[in-house]
Amino acid sequence: MGDTTSSQLWTGRFSEATDKFVEKFTASEHFDRRLYRHDIQGSMAHARMLHKIGVLSSAELEAILGGLEAILADIERGDFAWLPELEDVHMNIEKRLTDRIGEAGKKLHTARSRNDQVATDVRLYVRDAIDAITAELIRFQRGLVDLAEQHADVIMPGFTHMQVAQPVTFGHHMLAWYEMLVRDQERLADCRKRVNVMPLGSAALAGTSFPVDREFTARELGFDRPSRNSLDAVSDRDFAIEFVAACAMIMMHLSRMAEELILWASPILGFIELPDRYCTGSSIMPQKKNPDVAELVRGKTARVQGHLTALLTLMKGQPLAYNRDNQEDKEPLFDTIDTVRDSLHAFADMVPNLQVNAARMYQAARQGFATATDLADYLVRKGVPFRDAHEIVGKAVRYGVEQSKDLSEMSLEELRQFSPAITEDVFAVLTLEGSVAARDHLGGTAPAQVRAQVTAARERLAQFP
Ligand code: ARG
Repeated sequence: MGDTTSSQLWTGRFSEATDKFVEKFTASEHFDRRLYRHDIQGSMAHARMLHKIGVLSSAELEAILGGLEAILADIERGDFAWLPELEDVHMNIEKRLTDRIGEAGKKLHTARSRNDQVATDVRLYVRDAIDAITAELIRFQRGLVDLAEQHADVIMPGFTHMQVAQPVTFGHHMLAWYEMLVRDQERLADCRKRVNVMPLGSAALAGTSFPVDREFTARELGFDRPSRNSLDAVSDRDFAIEFVAACAMIMMHLSRMAEELILWASPILGFIELPDRYCTGSSIMPQKKNPDVAELVRGKTARVQGHLTALLTLMKGQPLAYNRDNQEDKEPLFDTIDTVRDSLHAFADMVPNLQVNAARMYQAARQGFATATDLADYLVRKGVPFRDAHEIVGKAVRYGVEQSKDLSEMSLEELRQFSPAITEDVFAVLTLEGSVAARDHLGGTAPAQVRAQVTAARERLAQFP
């Protein structure tokens, strides 16, 4: 039969037109049109393969490649009428191709299904996203390493339980963030290996009766290899879920950084000043300078975590092979990509440009008895067992709280009330400078270690463009 007024590509077996509501309900072109470049890229490689195995003549191949090229240009110029009745990006482009070049266009879909086509498009898209996100991760890492070097000697309070614990260097803190981002980058690189596998040739689910050269198509598209099982290749979206999981981890890290930036920028701590161009004011309180970008990154983390849950849940009940459920993978996936890329972009610009208020950090570290552990360690070196040393220093701190005096502000006589093992040389360990400098081993907070890690990080970063 086939309603001749319909533009749909599969009307042959139907006796009535699709319900208008169903047409709208099932359409995805309004969001999957984002795949147009990758769809065209995949179609071009598929057409070359069809020509290679003798399914398309040279003239047909030229017509198809020229037509797809022109469609690509139309879309990029904004001169392409997307039709919801054509459902998705794949059929919109295929139909336009046939309208443009005639008969040859109808041959493009030989030995292919939208099922292997969409799985291929999404893999190509995620591969590009991984590369773009990785570039932002590297840019941010470089900014953090520069910041760490500039502030290798700046002393701040290190916190546990959000209580002043021990002095650390600001450079050391920046390098802690850098390490998180290195792991994030490694996760993406590992995920990319499983993304970079080509479904084309799997067709609808069982493969195709044409003698396809899948190695050829895979090479054309820069895939490491063709998939080994057609049922699996058209159905599973684990590669996308894994990617979103890696992104959720990135956002979790950015959110932790955001939380610290917000606290540090609060006038109550006043450790840092964020660049004005990354903050906004209040419509009622003239004094306000709000760290909105950091807050939004913290907030947007929730959406990516939600997308991860959505995709896991989307996949969990699906039998082999392709099911239309999978059309629902795109919006969470696309929004994840936008959110992570933009959040990293913002942080890579903002964080390396923050102003450090070293005096405020120093003052805060002095107020919290941050060198108490150093005094205990000192007593241990003088022969006092650590548990006794802990008790002695606890008493000294209690005295300091009562007298509003830091340990380093007490006289030798005051300190000796707590232990006769304390002598003149104690003051070297009670200073914040002495405390950080003493932690001079791999992984420690000493300025010398920060500088060594900066050098190592720069060597690692030199391998990337
Ligand atoms: N728009 C669909 C998707 O995103 C493309 C594949 C549709 N395949 C099908 N047999 N209906 O998954």
